[in-house]
Amino acid sequence: MNKPLKLLVIGGGGREHALAWKLAQSGRVGEVLLAPGNAGTAGEAKCRNVAVAAEDVPGLLRLAQSEGVDFTVVGPEGPLAAGVVDSFTTAGLRVFGPTRAAAQIEASKAFTKDFLARHGIPTAQYRVFTEEQAALDYVAQRGAPIVVKADGLAAGKGVVVANTVDEAQAAIRNMLGGGMGQAGARVVVEDFLAGEEASYIVVAAGTRYVPLASAQDHKRVFDREQGPNTGGMGAYSPAPVVTSEVDARVRAEVIEPTLRGLAAEGRPFTGFLYAGLMIAPDGSPSVVEFNARLGDPETQPILMRLDSDLLDLLEAAVAGDPTAAPPRWKPQAALGVVLAAGGYPGTIRKNDPIHGLDADFGPDAKVFHAGTTLRDGQVVTSGGRVLCVCGQGPDVRSAQRAAYSAVAKISWEGAHFRTDIGYRAVSREEEK
Ligand code: AMP
Ligand code: GLY
Repeated sequence: MNKPLKLLVIGGGGREHALAWKLAQSGRVGEVLLAPGNAGTAGEAKCRNVAVAAEDVPGLLRLAQSEGVDFTVVGPEGPLAAGVVDSFTTAGLRVFGPTRAAAQIEASKAFTKDFLARHGIPTAQYRVFTEEQAALDYVAQRGAPIVVKADGLAAGKGVVVANTVDEAQAAIRNMLGGGMGQAGARVVVEDFLAGEEASYIVVAAGTRYVPLASAQDHKRVFDREQGPNTGGMGAYSPAPVVTSEVDARVRAEVIEPTLRGLAAEGRPFTGFLYAGLMIAPDGSPSVVEFNARLGDPETQPILMRLDSDLLDLLEAAVAGDPTAAPPRWKPQAALGVVLAAGGYPGTIRKNDPIHGLDADFGPDAKVFHAGTTLRDGQVVTSGGRVLCVCGQGPDVRSAQRAAYSAVAKISWEGAHFRTDIGYRAVSREEEK
């Protein structure tokens, strides 16, 4: 019998809770450390939180070495962009995630747009600006709707989909005028794409890859896509817009040329590669964004559906070939509803005690924590997206019912959530 493995998951959001929960189910795993984790991971079987910040690369390296960690999985983009994978690899540690050079596909939108153009990968027409007047003139000439994006990392909040020229110009003035700090020092202005979005995530190692199950996220804060963009208010899997024809096109037109292009440019990508896609009514995919990590909240419903061992898959990828341990999926659908703190996505309330977490949620629901912490033994809110409450069932409609019946058992002062997660898939199911 081999010695049980000790893993490290870097991060403390809902995505990391789901990763740790799923990795802990592997029979080969003895313990999963989280740096820093949250109140949910503190109570998860085989899991232990360690007070090291996700972006403290030297601290993470010391932790992995002193604890004898066998394998590390990086959740968020911050540590990737800070080079955590490079540091761990140089120190001889096994880690799953892209190098800093490969993670550039997420860290700079301007880099990504230029990369897509160089490799003929479909995306909206765009221009990159640092001069305010040039950007204002371009928008006036191009007309609305039009999309204005801060170049740097902005936690999903650096994008304005403007319905009028005025709105686009105000966003440009704000970003180039310093209103978003360094992230907005360069802006990308791009054409509006019509269609339905999908999140398509693969486990890659150079040019070899396996897709995870498809998903769809809900970015706007209010029902029926009203209000500002957020990091994501809910997600479900599978996404019916990704038919088998669309899937084949995404692989051939987006994923494969992207992995080949990154390898050819000397930035081979090992890790989760997330393509945020717009699927036009005729089924053609366009890239809206890339992320160098799993989606949050997409990960929570995707991993609820994963039937095989996640560690086997990630270890195979680090060894160079994820196709050696392809994932198996449950036929069920899964759906997650994000419960957010009062004020999110603006200035949020914190330290509100959360009620109902000890309810019996049954076998078809799972509560993943994100912005939670323990204060005197009580779980309190500590971030914008607080929980992701997931349900599963034979179709999206029943997964939605399972999720919302669990949501109904939980409350705190100022909590808010969308009541329509999954509506596009549910209406397709009802048409059948
Ligand atoms: P991003 O951070 O680039 O993923 O953009 C956030 C969200 O803005 C996306 O998920 C879309 O909902 C929307 N969006 C971004 N770019 C476009 C575009 N060119 N056309 C339509 N919607 C867009
Ligand atoms: N849910 C969108 C993202 O993780 O970027």
